Amino acid sequence: DKVKIFAPATVANVSCGYDAMGFALQGLGDEMFFSKTNSKTVTISKIEGAKLPFEANKNVAGVVALNMLKDSDADFGVDIQIFKNFKPGSGLGSSAASAAGTAFAVNQLLNNKYSNLELTKFAMQGEVTACGSAIADNVAAAIYGGFILVRNYDPLDIIQIPSPSELTATIIHPQIEIKTEDARKVIKSEIPIKTAIAQWANVGGLISGLHTNDFDLISRSLVDHVAEPQRKHLIPHFDTIKNAALKSGALGASISGSGPSIFALSKSTEIANNVAEAMDMVYKNSGIDYNIYVSKIS
Ligand code: HSE
Repeated sequence: DKVKIFAPATVANVSCGYDAMGFALQGLGDEMFFSKTNSKTVTISKIEGAKLPFEANKNVAGVVALNMLKDSDADFGVDIQIFKNFKPGSGLGSSAASAAGTAFAVNQLLNNKYSNLELTKFAMQGEVTACGSAIADNVAAAIYGGFILVRNYDPLDIIQIPSPSELTATIIHPQIEIKTEDARKVIKSEIPIKTAIAQWANVGGLISGLHTNDFDLISRSLVDHVAEPQRKHLIPHFDTIKNAALKSGALGASISGSGPSIFALSKSTEIANNVAEAMDMVYKNSGIDYNIYVSKIS
């Protein structure tokens, strides 16, 4: 009647796949504890590492748990404890980790009543609470693990994409907060057909490269013509960080989700560590606080 889980940080968009692609990180995420209660309601008894609401109907994890208990007509309640290891507003799917982690754990308390696709839908309701949009890329990556493609939103269709085991992410998180809601407002609702063609061609290239372990193709395809050009001004030294990562051997680099974190992908841990050092050099004397993570994809 107790469940302990690791809720991974996730990188959404992955350059060319705005709202359609994401991957989960093995080495960074929250810890969450869930226990059954007799109260038939949801309580949040502990939150460490971030300032988040304790009222269940205002908390992403609480909202997901409430919806699942209601939908399943459960005869028990749930108490949640959240230990956050990375910050909300980082662009690393903080709310998604809470939402997906809760969906996954409450499902265990319900004897695995729901499929991963159904869990993704519950977790998306948490994303509405967090940022006003039912985005699936972060939550699906956290639930399925590895790389995912949100092929369609309605009806929801999540595709798991295999990836080379050597692939390693380097992330730099400058500690300025960008609200996803605000970062979504800077994206124009229309794009020229030429841009669309370039973008979907890269998505195809990226998916093919991930399937065939073709690192050159992955590298050529990690280009974003849509979100990155419109959002990069929100992130200090974005171009310098990106160029430093590419110069150190990264296959590609771009904004993680809605930012401000920047991710790079490399074909070995050694290169990913070099990328981390190069990123560190850029921010070292900038006066900006930051964290750097190197992690395999899980
Ligand atoms: N795909 C979403 C965005 C992710 O870029 O706005 C939000 O974390």
